[in-house]
Amino acid sequence: MGKKTVLDFLDMKTRREKITFLTAYDYPLASFAEQAGVEMLLVGDSLGMVVYGLPGTIPVTMNEMIIHSRAVRRGAPGTFVIGDMPFMSYQSSVEKSVENAGRFLKEAEMDAIKLEGGRRVEKQIKAIVEAGIPVMGHIGLTPQSSGQLGGFKAQGRTAEAARELMLDAIAIEEAGAFSILLEAIPPEVGEAITERLSIPTLGIGAGIHCDGQLLISGDMLGLVEAFTPRFVKKYANLSDVIIKAISKYVSDIKELQFPEEKHTYRMKEGEAEKLGEFLRSLDK
Ligand code: KIV
Repeated sequence: MGKKTVLDFLDMKTRREKITFLTAYDYPLASFAEQAGVEMLLVGDSLGMVVYGLPGTIPVTMNEMIIHSRAVRRGAPGTFVIGDMPFMSYQSSVEKSVENAGRFLKEAEMDAIKLEGGRRVEKQIKAIVEAGIPVMGHIGLTPQSSGQLGGFKAQGRTAEAARELMLDAIAIEEAGAFSILLEAIPPEVGEAITERLSIPTLGIGAGIHCDGQLLISGDMLGLVEAFTPRFVKKYANLSDVIIKAISKYVSDIKELQFPEEKHTYRMKEGEAEKLGEFLRSLDK
């Protein structure tokens, strides 16, 4: 199976085949995800928390995003990969948004970019699409504006809030985005937006009706030990596996159980004797 394109994702929506979507930040995980059959990868600015241990996504820079996007591209050459525009790489001007979106394609061979916001980033989406770059929109809980939202809280829980989300979703589609990410909204709202739009919806905490599902890899693999959001399903507990393995390594070293004979290199035939002679000569 070759790499999927924006047209394949549109076709999947029409056929009601669900799209599989996961975040990745480095070469090994991207490679595992590709081998497991994930169809779309996001190099999310969530790497601020998952990789750098920051409290949020605000400090993440374009250069950091490019470095991680390159690693993911090398790990998953046959997967559709999306670069996430970090805070202040697109908000301040349309020109800046096009330039930074372009960097993801030129410097990291991304297939598309994602940016947060609805009607307020309509101009940026239009300009980036006009530059020939596929765009994924992102509404609902938008982490870069969590300060304005009063924290990392579910959105669209009243009819009025849901109406605003629908208007944002329509504006994103009309601006030319090829898909839209819906984060932390009730399933009824996810369903209404999915039914109303012609472009695919990807949900993270937006219910079963979205055209595809996203999870943060660190959350679903049990690598993130801090807070786990309600919408996460843990498919593994890798932090336990890793801590156990490293603890065994530590005790093996202390108890002279590592390295064993099979982990060491042998001197060439007759060379150990020569070394012995040399060492004795040092004492004369
Ligand atoms: O950065 C990211 O991984 C994201 C998800 C939270 C949707 O944008």
